[in-house]
Amino acid sequence: MNAFEWYNPTKLVFGADKVGQLGELIEPYGKRILLVYGGGSIKKTGLYDDVMFQLRNIDATVHELSGIEPNPRLSTVNRGIDICRTEGIEFILAVGGGSVLDASKAIAAGALYKGNVWDFTIRKAIIQDALPLGTVLTLAATGSEMNGNAVITNWETKQKRGLGSKLVYPRFSILDPKLTYTVPRDQTVNGIVDMMSHVFEQYFTLTTDIPLQERLAESVLLTVIENGEKALEDGTDYDARANLLLAGTYALNGTLPNGVTTDWATHGIEHEVSAIYDIAHGAGLAILFPNWMKYVYKERISKFVQYAVRVWHVDPTGKSDDEIALEGIAATRAYFTRIGAPATLGEVGINDEHLERMAEEATQFGPIGSFMLLSQDDVLNILKASL
Ligand code: NZQ
Ligand code: ZN
Repeated sequence: MNAFEWYNPTKLVFGADKVGQLGELIEPYGKRILLVYGGGSIKKTGLYDDVMFQLRNIDATVHELSGIEPNPRLSTVNRGIDICRTEGIEFILAVGGGSVLDASKAIAAGALYKGNVWDFTIRKAIIQDALPLGTVLTLAATGSEMNGNAVITNWETKQKRGLGSKLVYPRFSILDPKLTYTVPRDQTVNGIVDMMSHVFEQYFTLTTDIPLQERLAESVLLTVIENGEKALEDGTDYDARANLLLAGTYALNGTLPNGVTTDWATHGIEHEVSAIYDIAHGAGLAILFPNWMKYVYKERISKFVQYAVRVWHVDPTGKSDDEIALEGIAATRAYFTRIGAPATLGEVGINDEHLERMAEEATQFGPIGSFMLLSQDDVLNILKASL
């Protein structure tokens, strides 16, 4: 097991109707609030009114930044930074899915930085300070509610990049499973695939003798697989939505990578796809991940055998390691297809035109991944296999 340090300061407030605690959670941080939300789902569901009621109760002065795009854009983040500076914002409240949360984190860091917030994503600057932020999550997927990462897109240059710092962990995140009842089917599917992919990035590792991390990861996967289908059958199944929500948080709140060398190549490749084509992150991952698996599984076949047997209950009797591993990978693809996720780039309208550019961008700082170190050519091969 690798040496590690782990720190996660986010307070999780989990359960039905917990938005009722919002006022008291914000109050210590100040009364000048920037409320950040997306394209309007929170107005349709009534959550906006509940949030405003809470903010009025603490006499907050509220400024709003709405219209955060799925795959949030740098230009929108910059609008938020301007509001923070001109209005003396003391606290940022993100209400929405991962895109709203990520945009809010970038705004929080950018507001206290003299340069361009994009600098944090291209390793030109390190986040030294940030406004405090809190979240009300409405979509189970990214884990952004309990981590210090954000992904934003520079639409002009067609680049999607991440920033990260312990300073942008949410101070608190309210997770009410009922708030996810209205998530449309396709976004529920994207969320399921995203959570599973986060686990894959941390589970497929060359680090050995990590039984706790492996079983935790398998447990998150099994929970997502079972409850994902239940939530798709009945979007208002409280327990299914609750289990999905918590699994999404555990998948990327820093629990799983402790002591483990993680991979993250497939996320790197997906970000290049959605940077150019603006497809949903989960859709891109559903297309790419089984192809990454097929490309790399021989690096340590025993891990893929374990995955097939423990997660997909593949019967190993009389089969070679190769057969078992491939059955596990096929089961992954079959599950994605069963829940309605795309399997090829063609299905989401992407042809081979920009594959070289994506491979080049994904490897601009050198080979990516750790389970198998992927060169530009390897990335191109995986993209071609995904057409
Ligand atoms: O914009 P609104 O109107 O709110 O609608 C959203 C949006 O259209 C809708 N939605 C959200 N909650 C809803 C709802 N509709 C009805 N009822 C609700 N309760 O869902 C759509 C998608 O929302 P979005 O926030 O984009 O989805 P998601 O949470 O999957 O976030 C995706 C973004 O997160 C990044 C992705 O790259 C992508 O940009 N990621 C962030 C990570 C992180 N911070 O750690 C890690 C991930 O790997 C990922 O890269
Ligand atoms: Zn992801």
